[in-house]
Amino acid sequence: MKIVVVNGPNLNRLGKRQPEIYGTTTLADIEKLVRSHADAAGIELDFVQSNHEGVLLDTVHAAADEGVAVIINPGAFTHTSVALRDALAEIADGKGFVEVHISNVHAREEFRQHSFLSDKAIGVVAGLGVYGYIAALGYFTQDLAPKNA
Ligand code: DQA
Repeated sequence: MKIVVVNGPNLNRLGKRQPEIYGTTTLADIEKLVRSHADAAGIELDFVQSNHEGVLLDTVHAAADEGVAVIINPGAFTHTSVALRDALAEIADGKGFVEVHISNVHAREEFRQHSFLSDKAIGVVAGLGVYGYIAALGYFTQDLAPKNA
């Protein structure tokens, strides 16, 4: 089984960026952590970050062609991108995707409380910090997952 973990804009700044909101863990730390869990579960993992919407779309299209599941923290594109929604709709028709937010977007500015993606997602994890990525991975690796084939 393979999973693609996708991180959107500004997430390369984790560790430096608004630590009071996002903590001090870097994206490299997150990749290491997620990889250790994926390795233990025998999951092949691609880990991608881009600040460019088109690159994220290309990554999601490749995941759709491969027929793999996606874990995505779309960053600010969550709240703006119909294009990302349309790309992820293909994943929703396949293995599905889980939307992850490090912060609790529902406890923040009003504009963060709308996601163009959530209704297409299997589920959304928000506010659990870095653990959100592990929770999403756990969903795909646990036996009860309906799309765990
Ligand atoms: C975020 C929340 C978004 O609103 C924000 O634009 C981000 C990070 C999060 O992980 O909490 O860049 O997706």
